[in-house]
Amino acid sequence: MGKVTVMNQAEIIQEIRRLAKERDALILAHNYQRDEIQALADITGDSLGLSMEAAATDKQVIVFCGVHFMAESAAILSPEKTVLLPRPDAGCPMADMVTPEGLREVKAQLPGVPVVTYVNSSAAVKAESDICCTSANAIKVVNSLLEPEVLLVPDRNLGRYIARHTDKTCHFWEGYCPTHDRFTVADVDAARAKHPDALFLAHPECPPEILAKADHIGSTSGMYDYVRQSPAKTFIVGTEAGILFRMRNENPDKEFVLPTSRLVCPNMKLTALEDVLKVLQTMEPRITVPEEVRIPAKRALDRMLAVPRD
Ligand code: 13P
Ligand code: SF4
Repeated sequence: MGKVTVMNQAEIIQEIRRLAKERDALILAHNYQRDEIQALADITGDSLGLSMEAAATDKQVIVFCGVHFMAESAAILSPEKTVLLPRPDAGCPMADMVTPEGLREVKAQLPGVPVVTYVNSSAAVKAESDICCTSANAIKVVNSLLEPEVLLVPDRNLGRYIARHTDKTCHFWEGYCPTHDRFTVADVDAARAKHPDALFLAHPECPPEILAKADHIGSTSGMYDYVRQSPAKTFIVGTEAGILFRMRNENPDKEFVLPTSRLVCPNMKLTALEDVLKVLQTMEPRITVPEEVRIPAKRALDRMLAVPRD
């Protein structure tokens, strides 16, 4: 019988670093990943920021600790690189709420109406879209368009948030993020009662009645900037629990609380250190996008990237 070697956490991390160097790999982690994955990563960030890091790096191998659509975005922007997803079963239920076939049907009913698609979507859905957006730039993207009407896909909550900041007629896809959608006004009120001086931050994936209570609404990266510059000392953070790791590290004099322990995305928590090690050992699974999908999907992403930031 072969000898089974059991490695402890420090040994796994050491071996990941050694292999990453040998493979010329960059390790990226989304802001919602487990603490130990964020601590290990070369770069942490939001969905789109990480894909742009993947495109900008000289390294030829990208280990994307996140969910499937994020690794796909990196593969769309950098087809010449090897993009590895440590847990191929880490999907995004919201991204799965729209299919290219379903989108084509709705588009046929709305001729001439541009489709604005959140980056939390498959490459095939991006390929059917006119332009992409993220939670950080969605309002600017929509207002940059000349048409008076838009179809916002797939997040109904982000869609309704955008609609409050544009004069355009908005049509909504009724998708949602199950993690952000399951948190309630009662959770916010209870947290505020416990922390009366705290500011409440919310991600635009939260339902409208939650956003109505927020002192600040923004993407995960926007939240980091906000808490850094705010004179407040306590923050109730209305997004996935993983965001607290860097917030606490970067702001040791401030306090961060979650309004509910239900703010955990099971898909984001799948990736473990062992998975990162395995993907570097085997160089599988690799995420690729066929050219007939990649080219139109890249067009929608590039069009978004061309929208001025300020
Ligand atoms: P951002 O990090 O782009 O704000 O995305 C939030 C999210 O839900 C990613 O799955
Ligand atoms: Fe998808 Fe929501 Fe999880 Fe992000 S937090 S990956 S939007 S289910």
